[in-house]
Amino acid sequence: MQDRPASPRFQHAELDWDENGQPQSRRYGDVYFSRASGLAETEHVFLAQNALAQRFAALQPDQRLVIGETGFGTGLNFLCAWQLFERVADSRARLHFVSVEKHPLTRDDLARALALWPELQPLAGRLLEQYVAVHPGFQRFIFGQGRVVLTLLVGDVLETLPGLGATVDAWFLDGFAPAKNPEMWQPALFAELARLSAPGATLGTFTSAGFVRRGLIEAGFDMQRVPGFGHKREILRGRFVGAPGNDVKPWYARPAFVSPERRALVIGAGLAGCATAASLAARGWQVTLLERHAEAAREGSGNPQGVLYLKLSAHGTALSRLVVSGFGYTRRLLRHLQQGHDWQACGVLQIAYDDKERQRQAELAGAFPAALMHPLAREQAEALAGVALPEGGLFYPEAGWAHPPALCQWLLQQPGIELLRHHEALELQRDDGNWQAMAGERLLARAPVVVLTGAADAARFEHSAWLPLKRIRGQISCLPATPASAELRTVLCAKGYVAPPRDGSHTLGASFNFQQTDMAPSAAEHQSNLDMLEEISSDLYRRLQADPQQTAALQGRVAFRCTSPDYLPLIGPLADQERFAETYAALSKNTRQVPQAECPWLDGLYVNTAHGSRGMISAPLSGELLAGWLEGEPLPLPRDVAEACHPNRFLLRKLIRGG
Ligand SMILES: Cc1cc2nc3c(=O)[nH]c(=O)nc-3n(C[C@H](O)[C@H](O)[C@H](O)COP(=O)(O)OP(=O)(O)OC[C@H]3O[C@@H](n4cnc5c(N)ncnc54)[C@H](O)[C@@H]3O)c2cc1C
Ligand SMILES: C[S@@+](CC[C@H](N)C(=O)[O-])C[C@H]1O[C@@H](n2cnc3c(N)ncnc32)[C@H](O)[C@@H]1O
Repeated sequence: MQDRPASPRFQHAELDWDENGQPQSRRYGDVYFSRASGLAETEHVFLAQNALAQRFAALQPDQRLVIGETGFGTGLNFLCAWQLFERVADSRARLHFVSVEKHPLTRDDLARALALWPELQPLAGRLLEQYVAVHPGFQRFIFGQGRVVLTLLVGDVLETLPGLGATVDAWFLDGFAPAKNPEMWQPALFAELARLSAPGATLGTFTSAGFVRRGLIEAGFDMQRVPGFGHKREILRGRFVGAPGNDVKPWYARPAFVSPERRALVIGAGLAGCATAASLAARGWQVTLLERHAEAAREGSGNPQGVLYLKLSAHGTALSRLVVSGFGYTRRLLRHLQQGHDWQACGVLQIAYDDKERQRQAELAGAFPAALMHPLAREQAEALAGVALPEGGLFYPEAGWAHPPALCQWLLQQPGIELLRHHEALELQRDDGNWQAMAGERLLARAPVVVLTGAADAARFEHSAWLPLKRIRGQISCLPATPASAELRTVLCAKGYVAPPRDGSHTLGASFNFQQTDMAPSAAEHQSNLDMLEEISSDLYRRLQADPQQTAALQGRVAFRCTSPDYLPLIGPLADQERFAETYAALSKNTRQVPQAECPWLDGLYVNTAHGSRGMISAPLSGELLAGWLEGEPLPLPRDVAEACHPNRFLLRKLIRGG
């Protein structure tokens, strides 16, 4: 798989505001919407040409409609579509809106632009509430408990759209006049629209440019000129009549299996299980969540404070892109928790503790927008942190810490989830189209779909035993805050991390122990956590008055991370290992040929695990990815990232490398 550069050229929109308070793009010299009436224009060009009022009204409960848009701009089209949907669609139908935006508005500009439409409040308010951590890549937003989902692709349309895995029912082809923005209106764009279109997908656009019309016809759209709005004489509308595009390898294609009922078992109630349950329930599924302990979040997800630590690469690796998308999603969810007690957007400072780290940070700072991270000299970092530091570092202002059990609890509040406590699944059997979770002779629960979210124990079942999962023991230490230590105002990270206090205690973490598996905190690992703290800040170490003689008496907690050989999670449908090897045996001789045989899926069996040491970042979004696979919805991540997280990658590697 190819890495891409992260996004050094990322820039927000630069706006000029005219005498009526309407925005215009300085870069493109064009308006965002008709000066006469943006609302009426949207209604005519996009809603009416796609017949959305009728199509929304015709949606059955649990059906959805997917709209794709080029140029999110101020979100006016999105809000108008959402408003219409609220007005006419069944209360159990869903709208999925995918939009691409190369230059997102800053939050302040967005607020100013949307204030122009009193009739769109409070929807605009709900968008603004969530408009945080909008960084390059795929960014997912959930509104109204999942009734409306927005997937914003931040980046150039020609670079991001090829990564989209979706089937689109209606297109809003926006994006500044072709004469002012010729780079966008390319045959490559029209080909992408065709690839992503459902049979009969419709399209509306404000332009009537001949080359756009011809390009769309060439790509497979039947195009019509229709009267325009305001001073525009004509606009275009279209319908996709071409052949559906399919460039997906069969082992990464969506399984053909459709569950006869929207009912699922999820096994394991940590962050991954709770997120999976919440994402499915938001789509109308009845979810039974099995947990062996008395409560959710008692193992890996049970620490008092988890840091939103972004392990990024300047080279746009799959992991790095997963992290930026996951961070945005988690960050938007956290606003539901009690700020100060269950999470804090206090920022995270990664200290440049040696030359290699300094070099890495310089590369990152050059590759990502300053709003996501920026370098701080030591004095600035100290002023911000409230304690003395050995070095400056890279500061992530929107990051911070959260209490993972609180996030799990919030996710479980989604209607449609039943948590069965003290239920440990020991075996899985398939019977009569249902998966049955058994504990010896006892049937715990059954459903046509099951998702394994038990961290490393996801591999305990016969069908999943091949999953290459590893457990790594980790220990945190909890240090009682002192008045002097409580002045710490941000999370500090170097080889370990320390957070500002929660409930009068700082979490200090975390050890990595590849050998041991016992659950009791050890004095040696408390000591290694304290050593890491001393390296982070000897000033903070003194303020905490930790007594090295008393490490054995420290409070702490042990849990296990679950990792995979490539450190990416495993999220998606499971295939039958043996039949996979038979079906694609030809690949072991010639990796270039792509056998078109259908993948031998285990119908209804899915996995979501291996979130390593960054589950706070990757697990919440993983629920959306899992639901995307199950429902055939637009995926919340680029296709190559979703494939890099697909369990089949390991079966494939085994076949190709022979081991
Ligand atoms: C010491 C330590 C510090 C960490 N610090 C951070 C941090 O600062 N930031 C961060 O982002 N991440 C951190 N992590 C990682 C993060 O905690 C994990 O990535 C995340 O919790 C994984 O969630 P999970 O749901 O996959 O697994 P878990 O939380 O372990 O959940 C799995 C659940 O499945 C249940 N289960 C398993 N098998 C069965 C079965 N057969 N039947 C019923 N129930 C079953 C278990 O009881 C458990 O509740 C840390 C991890 C550790 C260990
Ligand atoms: C006319 S505005 C869109 C108005 C918007 N639909 C609304 O409802 O406010 C055009 C948008 O397209 C974006 N855009 C222009 N060229 C692009 C490209 N190549 N890739 C992605 N977005 C682009 C611009 O930044 C701008 O926000």
